[in-house]
Amino acid sequence: TAGVLVDRHGRVARSLRVSLTDKCNLRCTYCMPAEGLPWLAGPQLLDDDEVIRLIRIAVRRLGVTEVRFTGGEPLIRPGLVGIVAAVAALAPRPRISLTTNGIGLDRVAPALRTAGLDRVNVSLDTLDRERFVRLTRRDRLDAVLTGLTGAAKAGLTPVKINTVLMRGVNEDEAPALLRFALDNHYELRFIEQMPLDAQRGWDRSTMVTADEILAMLRAEHTLVPDPAHRGGAPAETWLVDGGPARVGVIASVTRPFCGECDRTRLTTDGQVRDCLFATTESDLRGALRAGADDDEIARRWQAAMWGKRAGHGIDDPGFLQPDRSMSAIGG
Ligand code: GTP
Ligand code: 5AD
Ligand code: SF4
Repeated sequence: TAGVLVDRHGRVARSLRVSLTDKCNLRCTYCMPAEGLPWLAGPQLLDDDEVIRLIRIAVRRLGVTEVRFTGGEPLIRPGLVGIVAAVAALAPRPRISLTTNGIGLDRVAPALRTAGLDRVNVSLDTLDRERFVRLTRRDRLDAVLTGLTGAAKAGLTPVKINTVLMRGVNEDEAPALLRFALDNHYELRFIEQMPLDAQRGWDRSTMVTADEILAMLRAEHTLVPDPAHRGGAPAETWLVDGGPARVGVIASVTRPFCGECDRTRLTTDGQVRDCLFATTESDLRGALRAGADDDEIARRWQAAMWGKRAGHGIDDPGFLQPDRSMSAIGG
């Protein structure tokens, strides 16, 4: 049977985000406490074959055309290259991408490219070593920069950079980060911080907004809206100084794009989430291990997506931050 993942608002999820681990080798202050989080235990995690089977069902039976691997930090997952190869062998072949902090990326980039990975997005919030240590609690800026270079060299392009801007922390670096991206042919996207941190420290009043970000950039560059079709992508993009270089802003909070959302998510413990901000999950791991066939799994996945809410509701009076943090959901 062939179907699609459609919700009652008429949106179709063509893009699947798969979290491959909840662990990370950095401790970004906006994501995790210094001591880390209570990691999921071995038996709770999907093994490589289970992950591959669920992705195959999504691609072959549910119309998914794009698979992005996330974490935690997905490069930590030992079976990553094999998983990518198995997904690239599916017919129809989905587009395959990865969101990573970049540590160690230079070493695996060629193997990932050969396995079928198309492109990567790398998180980088500062170019200043001391600031990087304060922000991530690890002295790994050089490793990230090397990872970026390695990704580009291996052809995992366009290489995108994700920067979460925070007031009084790194907002003053927006122009320098853009300069760095332009010089190295990376596509930079500035991200409004969302209420998804484990320690629940998010505060709307301290969030740097898309309007502020654009004003800062316009002080030094001309920005013209990119005519390319946005699709369901989180980033709004602008051509910088006449193009072809672009810069993006992901304004999840002040300019939500939920109406165009085309995502479904699979957590590393085999739960489907219809949204980053979902308050419920649907247990595919249980079904899988109870012996459900592909049809049954596909039906459950469809049922899980049907009830997806119209929007994230961050501005609603009764908004509740999800129980899981970004690192456990998969960004
Ligand atoms: P591209 O395909 O390159 O556009 O990837 P992407 O921007 O969708 O993915 P990436 O993993 O790089 O995410 C960048 C930022 O977008 C992160 O801060 C994500 O949390 C945010 N983001 C990703 N998916 C969603 C989503 O479904 N909803 C919202 N509100 N934000 C999202
Ligand atoms: N709000 C917005 N973006 C976040 N990220 C992590 N936590 C948050 C948050 N609370 C970013 C990471 C990474 C991407 C997957 O999500 O920096 O680039
Ligand atoms: Fe989609 Fe939810 Fe993200 Fe909105 S917040 S874009 S509905 S996943």
